Amino acid sequence: MASIENQMENKKKACVIGGTGFVASLLIKQLLQKGYAVNTTVRNPDNLKKISHLLALKSLGELKIFRAELTVEEDFDAPIAGCELVFQLATPVNFASEDPENDMIKPAIKGVLNVLKACSKAKQVKRVILTSSAAAVTINQLNGTGLVMDETNWTDIEFLNTAKPPTWGYPASKTLAEKAAWKFAEENHINLITLIPTLTVGPSLTPDIPPSVGLATCLITGNDFLINGLKGMQMLSGSISITHVEDICRAHIFVAEKESASGRYICCGHNTSVPELAKFLNKRYPQYKVPTEFNDFPSKTKLIVSSEKLIKEGFSFKYGVEEIYDQTVEYLKTKGALKN
Ligand SMILES: NC(=O)c1ccc[n+]([C@@H]2O[C@H](COP(=O)([O-])OP(=O)(O)OC[C@H]3O[C@@H](n4cnc5c(N)ncnc54)[C@H](OP(=O)(O)O)[C@@H]3O)[C@@H](O)[C@H]2O)c1
Repeated sequence: MASIENQMENKKKACVIGGTGFVASLLIKQLLQKGYAVNTTVRNPDNLKKISHLLALKSLGELKIFRAELTVEEDFDAPIAGCELVFQLATPVNFASEDPENDMIKPAIKGVLNVLKACSKAKQVKRVILTSSAAAVTINQLNGTGLVMDETNWTDIEFLNTAKPPTWGYPASKTLAEKAAWKFAEENHINLITLIPTLTVGPSLTPDIPPSVGLATCLITGNDFLINGLKGMQMLSGSISITHVEDICRAHIFVAEKESASGRYICCGHNTSVPELAKFLNKRYPQYKVPTEFNDFPSKTKLIVSSEKLIKEGFSFKYGVEEIYDQTVEYLKTKGALKN
């Protein structure tokens, strides 16, 4: 009979880059629950408060934490060694940046390439899953309503570079990093898949409430700055498209394990607009008095983000918009960010 040590050695091993994050920490939890041994990277393993939720996950299985900075190539060799699957989720996010080129775009591209270089050196890596974003798909100068965006669509980088709309650096960084990843993977024969989530919502393991949860719930919390941000998101991206974080993590593992999977996969649970979402929230949670008057702000979305390819591959979403918000509202209450 195999000893426990042998059994441990035979476990499938996955590496999650950027483990402290909202999505990554839940992905690690799901991988451990599925029996994977997990290596993860964080920028500062000495910051015990920031990694407290990862330390707590060690009770679920074999989890090793490594130090890695996206812009330092050699940081990724040790955590990726021996892993069959590599999930790259880390990305610099600074919406208030005055220098998006150096704060987001360059490090995002360099980081993705550094991770892929380490993967091509490590012989055991079978597949790499890069977390992209709907922000790399939906931003364009098309007009109309009801357009359907799928994996063939790419954000118009020329438009972002010339018009520089507010927050342009983030979508530019995600688009250029994903494009660089595809080029490197093709040239170096890496089995790459990109998973493309929309605005991510749901309970988080992280010590702080994630920014995307704050944005998606601003109509309930009444944060005017974020409500303007949400409107800006609809104007730039063409819709408010939201997904439960658990479904996003399940989709990462699904495309990683599914032999036939290839290319890009959009993962979107629900498409809506600010006025439509406000109406839904006002009715479902009357106690929060969500405003429903938006004057001439469009309640019909310019586009919807389609997950048809992921669903055709065999994935099914667990959470619709009701459950997404019910769970998130309960989560915000436990964090003291919402009253009953
Ligand atoms: N949340 C959403 O709504 C959403 C939607 C679509 C796509 N995505 C994508 O999904 C992924 C995860 O998103 P998230 O919301 O979970 O992000 P998050 O909570 O902000 O986590 C981002 C992670 O990136 C790491 N990171 C940032 N700069 C780094 C650097 N220079 N070197 C190493 N690590 C660095 C951070 O590490 P530290 O802890 O050290 O700061 C953190 O762990 C990202 O790729 C994001 O673009 C997210």
